Amino acid sequence: MSVREIVLGDRPMLRARAKRVSAFGPSLQRLIDDLIDTMRAAPGVGLAAPQVGVSQRVIVIEYAEPLPEDEPSAVATGRAAARPPKLYVVVNPEIAKASDEVVEGVEGCLSIPGYAGNVDRAVAVTVKGLNRRGQPIRLKLRDWIARIFQHEIDHLDGVLFIDRAKQIWRIEPEDEAAAAA
Ligand code: NI
Repeated sequence: MSVREIVLGDRPMLRARAKRVSAFGPSLQRLIDDLIDTMRAAPGVGLAAPQVGVSQRVIVIEYAEPLPEDEPSAVATGRAAARPPKLYVVVNPEIAKASDEVVEGVEGCLSIPGYAGNVDRAVAVTVKGLNRRGQPIRLKLRDWIARIFQHEIDHLDGVLFIDRAKQIWRIEPEDEAAAAA
């Protein structure tokens, strides 16, 4: 496993439509492990294969849902606590269903460091795809995790958050880790 270099800016790799995966052998497994390592090292909450220069439909996401503020452990610590982070690996992901209801939220991208923007996304989505062994999976997601999936699946179609953002602004490096994907 290793950390790969992240493709930055508006390079052709980030603008291409990535290819569907049909082989689940060692090179895919290595790619997935490297995506996870690279996402964690960045650090970020998600990464798509084109962001490491591989034009294949693979995404990884790792995100800790915040605990509701009235849950006992959040009350005890007196600050916003989070559940343990959950790791998702999805091959050939597709949005099977999206809510009509959209919500605006702030996004960043590991390929566009130093910028954030506000983007409208569906509040809830159902994502179908394959796990790393090629078995079908179906995920019902809402709120932030649904947003991250929409951001990553966009990467597979050559779409960046700056294409969808209503406004884009510069951010300080120390604020960046929170939401880059
Ligand atoms: Ni991104």
